[in-house]
Amino acid sequence: MTDRWYEEAVFYELYLRAYQDSNGDGHGDFRGAIQRLDYVKSLGVDCIWILPMYPSPLKDDGYDVADYYSIHSDYGTLEDFKAFLEAAHDRELRVVIDLVMNHTSDQIHWFQEARRDPQSPYHDYYVWSETGNEYAGARIIFLDTEESNWSYDEQAGKYYWHRFYSSQPDLNYDNPAVHEEMFNIIRFWLDMGVDGFRADAVPYLYEREGTNCENLPETHLFLKKVREMMNDEYPGRVLIAEANQWPEDVLPYFGEGDEFHMCFHFPIMPRLYMALEQHNKRPIVDILNRTPVPPEGAQWLTFLRNHDELTLEMVTPEERQWMWEQYAPDPRMRLNLGIRRRLTPLIGNDRRKWLLLHALLLSLPGTPIIYYGDEIGMGDNIWLDDRHGVRTPMQWSAEKNAGFSRAGETYAPVIDGEQYGYETVNVARQEDNPDSYLWATRFLLRARSQCAELQRGSREWYTTESESVLAYWRILDDSRTLCLFNLGNEPTSISLDLRELSGGRVVDLLQEDASREISNWPAVYRLRPFGCHWLHIEA
Ligand code: NOJ
Repeated sequence: MTDRWYEEAVFYELYLRAYQDSNGDGHGDFRGAIQRLDYVKSLGVDCIWILPMYPSPLKDDGYDVADYYSIHSDYGTLEDFKAFLEAAHDRELRVVIDLVMNHTSDQIHWFQEARRDPQSPYHDYYVWSETGNEYAGARIIFLDTEESNWSYDEQAGKYYWHRFYSSQPDLNYDNPAVHEEMFNIIRFWLDMGVDGFRADAVPYLYEREGTNCENLPETHLFLKKVREMMNDEYPGRVLIAEANQWPEDVLPYFGEGDEFHMCFHFPIMPRLYMALEQHNKRPIVDILNRTPVPPEGAQWLTFLRNHDELTLEMVTPEERQWMWEQYAPDPRMRLNLGIRRRLTPLIGNDRRKWLLLHALLLSLPGTPIIYYGDEIGMGDNIWLDDRHGVRTPMQWSAEKNAGFSRAGETYAPVIDGEQYGYETVNVARQEDNPDSYLWATRFLLRARSQCAELQRGSREWYTTESESVLAYWRILDDSRTLCLFNLGNEPTSISLDLRELSGGRVVDLLQEDASREISNWPAVYRLRPFGCHWLHIEA
């Protein structure tokens, strides 16, 4: 395993509260998650990303941290965390944790001191104002709940700055003590053995008048210092940026290979759904043409869904409206600038679309992430508040509480109902069914893991006339695979001219035992509605 393990890895986003409850209190915990690690491993993933597990009043489900050096009591103790880490490492699974850098909970003792005593060293940990008029150029992110990025604090008699909920005051990165504090936190967890961090909300660390307070040069300077320290003291650990921005604005977060190892690629995600519903490859082609190749050793992170709403921040207002109409016809499905639904309900539980989206995710350049539950096609509950409807208990079996917990009541209800309810959709049932999503997930991950160019290759377009057929090569040295997708709901055929490769054979990695000689080509290649193929060329 090299220091660049993350370039070939597949990530699994695991929401601890939802995964497995070991003590019957209705909340998932580390001891429970340990029991499920063999399952995680069996999927074929390499690294687990766990959502914030710190003590927190949970106003933003843990993204409001009240103590950076400890574990939320619902999840267990530091000892339990260490046991989880060890059990994961024993199975050669890496573990990346969330690092909330931009803000804290208002319950953390730093903020409590800060608001109580202007002379306290903690006062300057936060961003204050007498008027609340500064930085008017900064947008509001949680549009549905927040009216301003400033909130008045009675105790301090001043306004404090926050980019998210008002219960999440932003840290003041103009204060070197905050840098030092963050470095201590980072070292604390790295010393414990975590394999890296998913750094939350990094574009917003600094504020400057006359700007939109995003992606400022000062922010990059600080982040480069973090990377430098990690390179020097903890080689092989990975730093991941959550920056929901256009590709050209994310590019600087890679630096010259001296900032983040990986950055999420946000704008591609809604375009996959857009292309699927428009039966047109254009949205995907356009965004990929606008996506720079990261510097050596850096990489995009791609995903279909995550624990938040399907964000539509990086699309035009017209595209957003269209996406809402297609994918969120019920207003309850909409949240802020997004859609609070899970993958499988979004595509109407259509197996062909599910396979196509996954075949895309696993063949696009970048490290893919699978969101827990999507591997079995779990549903959502749009009637839960905020984003909780996509964070319901993992469905293990048809037993009580889906086998997730023996409690009388769980932190959120398990999904019920005929189509997505736990009695229908669960791991145990799918284990026995070779046609299930679970088997498909394992099959796709195995196929990808055996194909180096899908993991690390460059991407080149293969031009087709058809607007519904997306085609690209992944190429690494002499190895190449042609990825073909019919985004249309009609069968279609394209003429494939692979004569320059004649003498070889074409193996479709997505079909068992499907191989053809190239000498017969140019060939007419038939594609079913929403059909997908990974055509690997064997010399
Ligand atoms: C991004 C996280 O994914 C989201 O869940 C959270 O609410 C915000 N950052 C604020 O921390």
